[in-house]
Amino acid sequence: MQVLFFILCAVCVYAKVTPDYFPQCKRSDPKIEKCVLDAIEAMRPQLKAGIPEVNIPALDPFTVPTLKLDRTAPNLRLKATVRHAKAYGGSDFKIEKLKLNLNNKYAAEIKLVIPKLVVTADYDVRGSRLLTLDINGKGKLRGNFTGITVVAKGIAKPIEKEGVMYIQAEKIVTRVKIGHGQVAFDDTERPVAAVSAATFFNASPGVVIDILNPLIDETSAAVLKAFINKVLGGIPLSEVLTDKK
Ligand SMILES: *[C@@H]1O[C@H](CO)[C@@H](O)[C@H](O)[C@H]1NC(C)=O
Repeated sequence: MQVLFFILCAVCVYAKVTPDYFPQCKRSDPKIEKCVLDAIEAMRPQLKAGIPEVNIPALDPFTVPTLKLDRTAPNLRLKATVRHAKAYGGSDFKIEKLKLNLNNKYAAEIKLVIPKLVVTADYDVRGSRLLTLDINGKGKLRGNFTGITVVAKGIAKPIEKEGVMYIQAEKIVTRVKIGHGQVAFDDTERPVAAVSAATFFNASPGVVIDILNPLIDETSAAVLKAFINKVLGGIPLSEVLTDKK
């Protein structure tokens, strides 16, 4: 009897990877959006530090180890490597809108607001220019950004890994709006130029943010896609979405 119990329990442990508090929603639920929103609220306390059992990385601070940027646009030539980027405050997000379409596909649209993000990162910028400003240098960046709105639209598809179904985001596009920003640079190569650049940014953050906007949209979409796929890659579909159509 005891042996049977152990065998069953070993099966149950391996059959389910998500912790017991992990919420589930029914695909056929006419109020699926509400179910998902409630699930996110229920997990908010855990999201801050992440959920290692299912590979969910910490949301606050949210870290991006390396970002390579290379872009030419009107008023902008930017070639930069950003390392050890950390954003604090992301777990205070509020979801203003969520639309899901799970009829024979996985499509989602979400609008969320982040009241404040405090960002730190190491930067290395070469051969770059914003308007007429030379923005080359290397050092540490600190920034405070407020009133951030993110609208993200995405489609996902089911994939099979070792006989288990998961979903993965295929395409994500985002539109990011930043209400206000304030930056400081601790530049080890060109401290005087960096102070001018920060003064320029802080005097008219909207101008700089507008120029950087397409880059911010694309970069946040790429970062979001990697984050979402990391999360969804650790959770079998059957454990978050029950009763397959
Ligand atoms: C960000 O805000 C904090 C606290 O409000 C302040 O101490 C810091 O100097 C600000 N940083 C920048 C880059 O303005």
